[in-house]
Amino acid sequence: MTNTPTDTRELRFPDGFLWGAATAAFQIEGAAASREPSIWDTFCATPGKVHGGHTGEVAVDHHRLWRQDVRLMGELGLGAYRFSVSWPRVRSGGIGFYDALVDELLSHGILPCLTLYHWDLPQELEAAGGWPERETAYAFAEYAAQVAQVLADRVELWTTLNEPWCSAFLGYASGVHAPGRTSPADSLRAAHHLNLAHGLAAAALPASAKVGIALNPSAVRPLTGSAADLDAQRRIDALANRIFTGPLLHGAYPQDLLADTKALTDWSFVRPGDEALIHQPLDFLGVNYYTPAVVSAAPDGNGPRADGHGATAHSPWPAADTVAFHQPPGERTDMGWSVDPTGLYDLLMRFTHEAPGLPLLVTENGAAYAPDVHDPARIDYLEAHLATIHRALADGAPVGGYFLWSLMDNFEWSYGYSKRFGIVHVDYETQARTPRSSAHWYARLARTGAMPTGL
Ligand code: FCB
Repeated sequence: MTNTPTDTRELRFPDGFLWGAATAAFQIEGAAASREPSIWDTFCATPGKVHGGHTGEVAVDHHRLWRQDVRLMGELGLGAYRFSVSWPRVRSGGIGFYDALVDELLSHGILPCLTLYHWDLPQELEAAGGWPERETAYAFAEYAAQVAQVLADRVELWTTLNEPWCSAFLGYASGVHAPGRTSPADSLRAAHHLNLAHGLAAAALPASAKVGIALNPSAVRPLTGSAADLDAQRRIDALANRIFTGPLLHGAYPQDLLADTKALTDWSFVRPGDEALIHQPLDFLGVNYYTPAVVSAAPDGNGPRADGHGATAHSPWPAADTVAFHQPPGERTDMGWSVDPTGLYDLLMRFTHEAPGLPLLVTENGAAYAPDVHDPARIDYLEAHLATIHRALADGAPVGGYFLWSLMDNFEWSYGYSKRFGIVHVDYETQARTPRSSAHWYARLARTGAMPTGL
């Protein structure tokens, strides 16, 4: 019997730690005909944008199979479920679906964790200008209040936005996500209006709501310690992280970000008082983490594909053409993303120091692998990342829970159904759900709160 620090049998998580799984409306619901179109419907219908021309029309038919899916979550012993509400569905009068879902979750003892926006902007709002327009932020706050009116009596954990970086920069700069626009200046306007949307919505939610936001902060590392590479790291840190955490946590955009991007915009779309509005009290910060980024200075960059978000001729990084992205050596997932849990550790410790006392939730973490139901590589990935979280907890990070991405295979954005992140396998012909080895592994962890060594 070994008893080394790497013996994960010893890792026990705190009582009350939330063991959850995450999904998002567009990726699982289907039933597109019973709601307004979103920008993702339009994007899917645009030739060449989504792998195989796949769409969200049926997805994994969760809008029909939700009771069965909640029962499965119960069987897996999940304590919490992070789902998103479809804004287009709410506009079509379909909020009752979430009302019933929340009741069903509670009746299985599963804590509902609601995300208001996971990328599915109503197409009509995009036609009116989308996130680069200020009005979209006000519309979002109204929608938040409407959802709260129905659900806030039973839902305690509220996340305003999921990964606003992706909405702003993949949606409006690189164009690999909906709505597929490629204007660096508009992407910065979009980022600000997403921040504003968060602030306005947080202010509109009732006092009983515990409010957070799920960012996908980048663990960005310099290739070397040279001054030029450190400056590349600073630039990307500003565009990936501090453009959000600046106003969210400190009430101001960082000066270096404004200076770096001044050739594109004078930032006059930030009105007096906006930064204070964005700086609402937060009850938790959600951290979504998959892989770190390695950057260096390079006169011509190295092509915008290198950050692993899909094919495009346009960079998602405004005014950072002289930054090159590097693929770290070592193991990769089916997305081509390197497996490196130290990035998650660094981010959790960074926020622990940057925002003392602010509770942290890992709102997404997981990996795509081959379709097989026996998935030891996924178990290894999860085990390594959970061991890292355990280490961060021991070092003082106030991490309150973990939401595995994803409960089940689903529509992986521009990759369509070609990438599988689920701990539950979905047969896309029959919609049959089959828990993978990783689901059984995770169920044991959720039940005991202690890291098992394998099945
Ligand atoms: C995140 C998204 C989520 C899923 C995972 C793999 O960026 O929030 O919807 O696509 O990546």
